Amino acid sequence: MSNIVGLNRRAFIKSAGMTALAGAAGVVATGANSAAAQTSSSNSRMAGGKYDFDTPYNRVGTDCSRWDGPALRYPAGAFKYGMGVASMDFECAPCITEALTERVQHHNWGYLSTTEPLRDGIVKWNGERHGVDLDPSSIVISDGVYPGVIAALRSFVPVGNKVLITSPAYSGFYSMARAARIDTVDSQMRIVNGRYEFDWEDLEQKMTADVRALIVCNPQNPTGNVWTQEELLRIGRLALEHNIVVLADEIHSDVVRSKHKYVPFASLKDAAVVNNSVSFNAISKTFNLAAMKNAYYYSKSPTMLDRVNQFHRAEISTLGVVANTVAYQQGGEWFDQANAYMDESHNFVENYIKEHMPSVGYTRNEGTFMTFLDVSKVMAAVGAEEQYKEHGNATPEHYFQDWLVHNSGVYLNPGSDYGTGGEGHMRMNIASSRMVLKDVFDALAKAVNSV
Ligand SMILES: Cc1ncc(COP(=O)(O)O)c(C=O)c1O
Repeated sequence: MSNIVGLNRRAFIKSAGMTALAGAAGVVATGANSAAAQTSSSNSRMAGGKYDFDTPYNRVGTDCSRWDGPALRYPAGAFKYGMGVASMDFECAPCITEALTERVQHHNWGYLSTTEPLRDGIVKWNGERHGVDLDPSSIVISDGVYPGVIAALRSFVPVGNKVLITSPAYSGFYSMARAARIDTVDSQMRIVNGRYEFDWEDLEQKMTADVRALIVCNPQNPTGNVWTQEELLRIGRLALEHNIVVLADEIHSDVVRSKHKYVPFASLKDAAVVNNSVSFNAISKTFNLAAMKNAYYYSKSPTMLDRVNQFHRAEISTLGVVANTVAYQQGGEWFDQANAYMDESHNFVENYIKEHMPSVGYTRNEGTFMTFLDVSKVMAAVGAEEQYKEHGNATPEHYFQDWLVHNSGVYLNPGSDYGTGGEGHMRMNIASSRMVLKDVFDALAKAVNSV
């Protein structure tokens, strides 16, 4: 019964268009009127071979963590824009909706017999787009990057030992380590000429005997680095010298800006370095399929793969397999257009900050749809350090998160969740219509320029 009510509510909100978004999230978005005419039909969102990423797609009321999550935390009206959680706001590639619709016409949901077409899709996608030659039998399908990395940590890092993380880094790495009952050690990156770089000296110092795994996040969330071949080889060789296994998390591998190139760790021209690694990937960021619970990992070393497999069991779903398989097979054009759109959005963000928000520091993003903003000056101006404990916040950045919601309606992720070096920063997701981004930045600028 509750499902039916949920569906009706979604249908209502969809047909009400962005007016519902404005009401539910308290947004009066620029795109509201133009978007009100939108329907749920995919075809209406494509013209002249171009997908429409500009018209805001209403996600409010669909139990999505990006928009519906923060709304539960703040008094009605305070929260307006969900710019945190790493999911895209775009309507998904039409081929995905079509394939799912077709599968739903068959009314039986017993166990699935094969993932062969999915595996073929993974091989083809990685071969054609990224130049890495994968043996289908070396690919293990998983229900997320999380379960794969946790299995690897359990396998390679005995309880009480450590995984090394170059930070600021994805907050999930710290919870994966907790799930594996191991400790973490951060090697904080340095900003050199406006770009985050590994601190090689510090990194090597941190490679002590109790460090048994190193996470190489490429592209790096939240700093947006797309690591070069030289950087990957150097970090891979250092890890090998210190007997540390490399876990390459490449979930953002497709979301790379023009003039940058993602180099799969497994494609490096040093067999010993490659054989000392396991790679984790998915197209859940590429096609916004996070809730479809599908990912994979592989290693060129069968021994390493076996070790991870001992601790891994995937629970995948038929719909997830259908959605992911068709995305690999037919989604390429949609993604290329989405990626080009997000590249432009990064330019918009960079220019906006430079022109209108002089107190906010910006580091140029090379990949991912996240941006990591230096808000330390604004935090100092609003007294985040002095106030956070009194307000019951875990860190000054969490205080600032609340401050931003109350003063601009914009919800961002606190930098302190991303390890050492995240202080004074907030993470922002830019995978939205630029109409929404413009409203978000106008609201942010008004708030931060007023202190
Ligand atoms: C670097 C990185 N790894 C892993 C994940 C989570 O992956 P999954 O949802 O497949 O477990 C995310 C999600 O944002 C991420 O950014």
